Amino acid sequence: MNKSILESVYSPETFKEMGHRLVADLAEHLDDKLNEKTHKAIHWNEPDDELHFWQEFLKHGDKEELFKEITKRTTYVHHPNYIGHQVSPAAPITALTGMISSLLNNGMAVYEMGMAPSAIERVVTDVLCNKIGYSKRAKGFLTSGGTLANLTALLTARRAILKQDIWNNGNRSPIAIMVSEEAHYCVDRAAKIMGLGEQGIIKIPATANFQMDTSVLEEKHQEVRAKGIEVFAIVGSAPCTATGMFDDLDEIAAFAKKYKIWFHVDGAHGGAGVFSKKYKHTLKGIEKSDSVVIDGHKMMMMPTITTALLYKNGKYTNATFSQKADYLLTESEHEDWYNSGKKTFECTKTMMSIHWYTLLKMYGESVFEAYVTNLYDMGTHFASIIEKEPNFELAVKPMSNIVCFRFINSALDLNEHNRLNASIRQKLLEDGEFYIVQTKLRGIHFLRVTVMNPFTTEKHFNRLLDKIKDFAKNA
Ligand SMILES: Cc1ncc(COP(=O)(O)O)c(C=O)c1O
Repeated sequence: MNKSILESVYSPETFKEMGHRLVADLAEHLDDKLNEKTHKAIHWNEPDDELHFWQEFLKHGDKEELFKEITKRTTYVHHPNYIGHQVSPAAPITALTGMISSLLNNGMAVYEMGMAPSAIERVVTDVLCNKIGYSKRAKGFLTSGGTLANLTALLTARRAILKQDIWNNGNRSPIAIMVSEEAHYCVDRAAKIMGLGEQGIIKIPATANFQMDTSVLEEKHQEVRAKGIEVFAIVGSAPCTATGMFDDLDEIAAFAKKYKIWFHVDGAHGGAGVFSKKYKHTLKGIEKSDSVVIDGHKMMMMPTITTALLYKNGKYTNATFSQKADYLLTESEHEDWYNSGKKTFECTKTMMSIHWYTLLKMYGESVFEAYVTNLYDMGTHFASIIEKEPNFELAVKPMSNIVCFRFINSALDLNEHNRLNASIRQKLLEDGEFYIVQTKLRGIHFLRVTVMNPFTTEKHFNRLLDKIKDFAKNA
């Protein structure tokens, strides 16, 4: 058997040599983008052109150029003109922790396959529980993304609240969750995966400000109960994705307590606000929840994908996928907090805890405070600039770093406005100097910005608005 190819794959020398070169190239990329030596946030290519490029590259491309081409053909999240989706420009040190995780490749399903990262996971989730304001009974774990974490939390809620054992026996009676109509679509998807069907997702209308209208909770609950449907959970968005507006967690907590249902907070985006003295108020009431989701790759500067799922009562960490009710033992000496695979959807998962721990160890909690506070401040600042512009309109005064706005012209009707703003966004994408996104709110097409880069300033906002005005003029 010819082993030489495998020897070359595992060569420490090649790894060292390529690694040094790659780190140097990525550092140059960082410098280039952060310091705006390149003025574009994206070099847009049509999907079919991109596909063709990579098909050809596999056959004829120069190996030496592979990493450079991948880097070039991405969206530059470290560029201050990247103000699009809610993905953070990863703190460079977490690229290094990513490398540790990839090379050491401990699979994390059981303690032996990840001793340090399993213990580290406990440390970081304990820190998060504490910041939320949970008591010492609280515990959590890390999993792959907000979508999976929300589904896991709802499965736990079903197990914890309902008398019937749906996990083992299947569902025989109608059950439901309550959630704002503005919540992220993954909550809807989770409910569908759980077999709740349309009738099992009670959409609570939002107020004019896109927050859950808690004044209709009682009425909605009565309507549902009159149909014989049992509600077992309510989800608060902190904040909702499209507009970045926070539901009133205090109000939802009171409702959940009254009816003894599970209160879950989807803090995928804004849960990190627990670190910000200035913005912690957006999460008022979060400590009364039964579970909270916080994404590390959104407002905590980590690489995709890592999410914390925290439970007020730690015994539920083992409940979700347990065949028997033995999870009730968790508070005894039999508790095994260190075997991740029992708690998570994943069997194997990455050593994601080391991103969290490294940021905490190297920079302290204040790094999260600085990041969240700075970005929320900039969201407010951008909105204040828009408010002064006669040709722009805000969808709503922002509560976070997500800002929805549109270009307006009094001569246009709704459809014309929608077409104009959609075409502005398409032009921005093709032009590439800025990367922003778009959303439809109550039939109105809005441009949407999420300030994710702490180096995005007023200068960038003004340049973006000038550019939009130009595109609008020439539309
Ligand atoms: C409020 C909210 N929940 C959940 C998600 C999904 O999280 P993930 O992309 O980590 O699966 C998002 C993503 O944007 C979100 O904004």
